[in-house]
Amino acid sequence: MKGDIGADTPVRSLRVLHIEDSELDHELAMAHLRRGGAQVEAVRVDTEAQFREALGQPWDLILSDYNVPGFSGLKALEMLRDSGLKLPFILVSGEIGEDVAVAAMRNGAADYLLKANLARLGPAAEHAIDAFRTLRARERADRELAASRQRLSELAQHLQTSVEMERAAIAREIHDDVGGSLSALKFDLAWLGRHAPTPEIKARVDSATEMVNHALEASPRIMHNLRPAILEQGLVAALQWLANRFERRTGVVCSFRSSHDHLQLPPGVPLVAYRTAQEALTNVSKHAQATRVSIDLSLVQGVLSLEVSDNGRGLSGADLAKARSFGIRGLHERASTVGGWVDLSSGTGGTTLILSIPLDAVASPSTLGPGGPTAGDEGHEHDPSTWGEL
Ligand SMILES: Nc1ncnc2c1ncn2[C@@H]1O[C@H](COP(=O)(O)OP(=O)(O)OP(=O)(O)O)[C@@H](O)[C@H]1O
Ligand SMILES: [Mg+2]
Repeated sequence: MKGDIGADTPVRSLRVLHIEDSELDHELAMAHLRRGGAQVEAVRVDTEAQFREALGQPWDLILSDYNVPGFSGLKALEMLRDSGLKLPFILVSGEIGEDVAVAAMRNGAADYLLKANLARLGPAAEHAIDAFRTLRARERADRELAASRQRLSELAQHLQTSVEMERAAIAREIHDDVGGSLSALKFDLAWLGRHAPTPEIKARVDSATEMVNHALEASPRIMHNLRPAILEQGLVAALQWLANRFERRTGVVCSFRSSHDHLQLPPGVPLVAYRTAQEALTNVSKHAQATRVSIDLSLVQGVLSLEVSDNGRGLSGADLAKARSFGIRGLHERASTVGGWVDLSSGTGGTTLILSIPLDAVASPSTLGPGGPTAGDEGHEHDPSTWGEL
């Protein structure tokens, strides 16, 4: 008789661990497997200790008799599960009740067979081995995907942190180098103006002084965009200022409410909240066509919440999937640097973005990002362009 796993498929070797107390039954089962075209390398065990030891070796398939004196197929199945090994397990029995079959399948058996129907062993083994191979491949792919996601998230967090640190450094240089040089230049121009020999030269010096004043006025504005000094007065004051400025600039009514007048927050958190509000407001002005936006800040049961709601056109899943939009994605990563997260909800009534940060989750300074205490520079304690305790 010809087995079902065709003679035209290439011969392959099969390492089989067989739990069986009868040598005769073992030989019979192996003969059925060989008939399927496989080159079988089998080991027969019939005690728990032998099985445990044999599990240390590589197998393609475990076959087990249901009734083995002093041991049992179900027990072996349990041991296999506890070992964490992912191997196809087929239960074979002289007679098998439905309840046993159900218990075996529930415990992870790939299949069960009656000894009277061993002709099915070849195809059953083939099928079980394929199914487990697919399962293992899928698990490996899932693990690789999760690891890759994790690496990507770490990279994104690192980039956010690096950008903030770079901004801080640039702001500091503008303050120290550009600001200092311009002030010195202004001083020298004033001297030249006083000693100008002709009105033409005096006029030139005045015009140069005007340019220098212009540059001196621009530097705090540039520094502010790079790193908001207003945060030194606390998050509540900074958000109030942001809301006022937004309303003045865009004409969209912007209200701000806070559960507290002043909040003592862990380092790193105010900057994350501030940048979140900034991006949410930028989005409102760019996309929402709203007439009203409200910012709510609250600290309830140790969780800081920042909610920015507008009454605009709302957004869809497709909006968030835009390949070239990074604002909201960046907010997710930024929030996770301090153990927080961002939720978005949207409908015909507008869009709401909520940042939540459990404050006890803001743990080690290494997770704090550029606002962390380590980012401060002792030489710049009074320099508004340093990070301080933001
Ligand atoms: N408040 C809002 N109301 C309506 N649509 C919004 C709102 N916020 C975001 N969107 C939509 O979601 C998309 C993604 O926003 P996201 O901030 O991630 O990117 P972006 O603003 O397009 O670009 P950027 O990377 O400069 O932030 C936007 O392009 C817009 O279509
Ligand atoms: Mg945006």
